[in-house]
Amino acid sequence: MNNFEFFNPTRIVFGRGAQAKTGALVKQFGRKVLLHYGGGSIMRTGVYGQVIDSLKAEGVDYVELGGVKPNPRLSLVREGIELCKREGIDFILAVGGGSTIDSAKGIAAGVLYDGDIWEAYMNPEKTPTRALPLGVVLTIPAAGSESSVGSVVTDEANQLKRAINSECLIPRFAIMNPEYTFTLPAYQTACGASDILAHMMERYFTRVDHVDLTDRLIEGAMRTLINYAPVAQAQPENYDARAEVMWTGTIAHNNLLDTGRIGDWASHDIEHELSGQYDIAHGAGLAIVFPAWMRYVYRDDVARFVQYAQRVWDVDLSSADPDAIVMEMIRRLEAWYKRLGLPVRLSDAGIGEEHLRLMADRCLLGREAVGNFRRLKADDVYEIYKIAR
Ligand code: NZQ
Ligand code: ZN
Repeated sequence: MNNFEFFNPTRIVFGRGAQAKTGALVKQFGRKVLLHYGGGSIMRTGVYGQVIDSLKAEGVDYVELGGVKPNPRLSLVREGIELCKREGIDFILAVGGGSTIDSAKGIAAGVLYDGDIWEAYMNPEKTPTRALPLGVVLTIPAAGSESSVGSVVTDEANQLKRAINSECLIPRFAIMNPEYTFTLPAYQTACGASDILAHMMERYFTRVDHVDLTDRLIEGAMRTLINYAPVAQAQPENYDARAEVMWTGTIAHNNLLDTGRIGDWASHDIEHELSGQYDIAHGAGLAIVFPAWMRYVYRDDVARFVQYAQRVWDVDLSSADPDAIVMEMIRRLEAWYKRLGLPVRLSDAGIGEEHLRLMADRCLLGREAVGNFRRLKADDVYEIYKIAR
């Protein structure tokens, strides 16, 4: 096990009625708030009205900026930064999913950043260390951004999707009412589940030895998600299933599960090129990339893949052939994605071969390699895209 520091200060307020605490929590941190949200689902579902009621009950002054698109755009982040400076905003409340939260984080960092915030997304050496405080009302379990260090934004002018990771971006609180996820379309439920599973697989496939505790924690969380995501999709108003998925989504990405180990993250980097180029949902892209990545690298530590196959997917180990065990695991993983209605090949998502080389090269822009399980170069990424055809 590696040395580590674990720091996650997000206050989680979880359960039915949790939204009533929004105003009081906001008031602890700010006097004038930017209320940031997406394309309007919160209006249709009634979440918006409940949040406004709570802010008003506490006398919180707020300014609104909606219109965040899935795969949030740099242009709106820039608009938000200007708005916050003009209005003297000192706190940001993101109401929505990963896209809204990540846009809010970009704004929060950008307001205090010396220069153009996109520089920080393109260059890890310019990672921000200061940001306005922010809070979250979560409406979709998926990205884990409600308590993560990350913000992922797309520069639509160049189709580049990039992340910043900094402790200053960890939200101060996250309001999580599983009832808010009842209204999710089946496809969004699936994409969210795929992202949650991916966050755990990225951490699971490590080359660090003696990480038994986190192995077991990840395995338990993965089995929970694999079990409950299809239930939540089939029965959208099943509170218990929605609650299991929602809490797993946070645990999957709040850095507890990678204490003492080094995760991989190549599949995320490879996927971000897909959603940058084609504007597909991140979770759908991951269902395409992860099985291909597995096929490409598993022989580097086949024992870890066999352990995963047995402990998470119940693959029978009586076969003496580790390749067969791993292939059976990948078959079960793909069957789970398909059952949720997700694509598992580029062709399933209508993506052809024309940009594979371009995306592989772009993936390595500004970095020497991606992934830690195996350090991958552009040619490797290209091979993985080809496996995913
Ligand atoms: O925009 P609105 O109208 O609100 O609709 C959204 C959106 O269309 C809809 N939705 C959300 N909650 C709903 C709902 N519809 C009905 N009922 C509800 N309760 O769902 C759609 C998707 O929302 P989005 O925020 O894009 O989803 P998600 O949470 O999956 O976020 C995806 C983004 O997060 C990034 C991804 O790359 C992607 O850009 N990620 C962020 C990470 C982080 N910050 O730590 C890590 C992840 O790996 C990921 O990369
Ligand atoms: Zn993700």
